[in-house]
Amino acid sequence: MSASADSTGTADGNEDLIAAIRRDHRQIERQFDSIEMATDLQARDDAFRELVRTLVAHETAEQVIVHPLTRRRSEEVAEARLAEEKEGEVLLALLEELGVGSDDFEIQLARLRRDVLEHAGREERDEHPLIEREVDAERLDRLGDAFRTAERAAPTHAHPHSPRSATGNVVAGPFMAIVDRVRDAAQRALGSSS
Ligand SMILES: [Fe+2]
Ligand SMILES: [Fe+2]
Repeated sequence: MSASADSTGTADGNEDLIAAIRRDHRQIERQFDSIEMATDLQARDDAFRELVRTLVAHETAEQVIVHPLTRRRSEEVAEARLAEEKEGEVLLALLEELGVGSDDFEIQLARLRRDVLEHAGREERDEHPLIEREVDAERLDRLGDAFRTAERAAPTHAHPHSPRSATGNVVAGPFMAIVDRVRDAAQRALGSSS
């Protein structure tokens, strides 16, 4: 995935849905860089937690706001992106279990980085053209607002190393605070944007 003109890293109030997603993709790439460049374990853990927050919020907002639109044009593309996101979630949970100090962390992080950036590339190449055909420009603007509102609902202090849920669901457990808040906010934002 190469950097493009929208890689300013700042939120633009007029940014439409596609621009908001693409800006996130650039930010996620930079957050992977930050983890790799961290010079001590604490800095690495902080950077990893920032990535978790961004990534889980981003994928959750896409699952509520974006993929349902894709599904209207192509069930296959929507299902493929969802499956990639599920795999990413499993790998993210594995990294969370390993912890930044583990020997395997770096290898698994490199795997996650490759998978996530390839996934983002496929969204930009295969999914976004379908969305642009399905939704007019004015609605794309409103959906951009809804997308950003949803992501902002992600709790800043959600520690990924939260206790396991009562059911021992290690995959969903650590991320549920983020998923729940973003999903609720996305549904509310969608309701008020239509
Ligand atoms: Fe995605
Ligand atoms: Fe994405």
